[in-house]
Amino acid sequence: MNRRKAIILGVLGAFIIIQFFRPDRNQTGQVSDQSMMRLYHPPDSITHIIKQSCMNCHSNNTEYPWYADVQPSGWWLDYHIRKGKEEVNLDEFAGYSDRRKLSKLRSMKSQVRDGDMPLRSYTWMHKDARLSDAQKTQLISWLDKTIDSLNQQ
Ligand code: HEC
Repeated sequence: MNRRKAIILGVLGAFIIIQFFRPDRNQTGQVSDQSMMRLYHPPDSITHIIKQSCMNCHSNNTEYPWYADVQPSGWWLDYHIRKGKEEVNLDEFAGYSDRRKLSKLRSMKSQVRDGDMPLRSYTWMHKDARLSDAQKTQLISWLDKTIDSLNQQ
């Protein structure tokens, strides 16, 4: 076997082997009673935006895209889900202290305003998660209202 063939076979073999290392799925299959939606009851349009653009990484239930079944892209997605949930888990939001709620809502607002969330590396593949300017405005104004109502408590 010549060198080139050996390298190609080696890479192919490695690719096949890594397919067996699948991260656990982030799916409880249950609607959380601690979710931000249950707590604040946003209008349907806001719920829709948050589900479509944020929940795949910031909740306990991810709707997995096809590429999650192909490594290493599944690992990459898993990493973002774990990091994202650590920062804000919208399915556990009701359990946060008032102070944490407020700081997370403010942070959500600035992330959306600055276009940092949803992650660009994600919307590149998930066009339906991109926020239009109108959706950004809608989401920010809802976040503002929610922040105000917490401030008045
Ligand atoms: C592809 C996964 C993914 C999606 C989709 C996503 N996030 Fe994130 N989010 C992350 C990750 C990963 C982090 C951790 C920080 C980082 O790596 O930038 C994060 C961090 C955050 C933080 C904390 C930032 C800080 O430093 O305080 C907020 C707030 C946030 N995201 C809000 C949102 C909102 C709102 C949406 C929807 C509009 C959203 N995210 C969509 C993955 C995601």
